Amino acid sequence: MKRLVCVLGSPKAKGNSASIAARLCAAAAAKGYETRTFALNDLDYRGCQACLACKGLSEICVIADDLGEVLYAAGEADVLVLASPVYYGDVSSQLKGFIDRTYSYLVPDWYGKKNPSRLRPGRKAVWVLTQGFRGEKSFADIYPKYRRFFKSYGFDESHLIRQCGADAEGSTEFRDAAFRKADALAAVLFKGIDIIAA
Ligand SMILES: Cc1cc2nc3c(=O)[nH]c(=O)nc-3n(C[C@H](O)[C@H](O)[C@H](O)COP(=O)(O)O)c2cc1C
Repeated sequence: MKRLVCVLGSPKAKGNSASIAARLCAAAAAKGYETRTFALNDLDYRGCQACLACKGLSEICVIADDLGEVLYAAGEADVLVLASPVYYGDVSSQLKGFIDRTYSYLVPDWYGKKNPSRLRPGRKAVWVLTQGFRGEKSFADIYPKYRRFFKSYGFDESHLIRQCGADAEGSTEFRDAAFRKADALAAVLFKGIDIIAA
């Protein structure tokens, strides 16, 4: 069974980014994917401590906190959904804390290696980024910046769903357009048997 793992970076469980991510999860589940969602804001974890244990002593991050399970599940996912509001021109601190800890996905002496990752290749990442600014040029640098790192982990194929003009109240005007993008992407990404509810 294919696995989709969704990592939510917003403190709002039903906010803009989480709603778009939920739409992707539902579409994947309908095609027989096993789906898991982690709301980072509910978890107790620290950022990377730069101990470098993952570059010598251990194959995984040695920090014993709630992020261990998320890192493991995300590392095994066929499709990884990373969803975040834009905060001060970047992903939220909740998601950035997770991203920094993915340093443990890299092998020792990774720099310059053809395959620097401990993870198997051939996976897909979907980034969901929502922002208050309407202009698409604003904060367009976020996705390419992080896509590059996840490509080196083995997420060879990446996709982006952006919702610009996504205010705190979640105005439906822009959310509907993002939902349509999510549905179109889901139709391409999740192929399989339709699961019919009994
Ligand atoms: C602390 C904070 C910082 C924000 N910074 C930005 C920003 O730099 N650019 C922007 O367009 N919107 C910014 N916003 C607005 C959010 O990105 C926007 O409302 C987003 O759609 C919220 O997504 P969510 O409902 O998934 O949490 C900020 C909001 C907060 C609370």
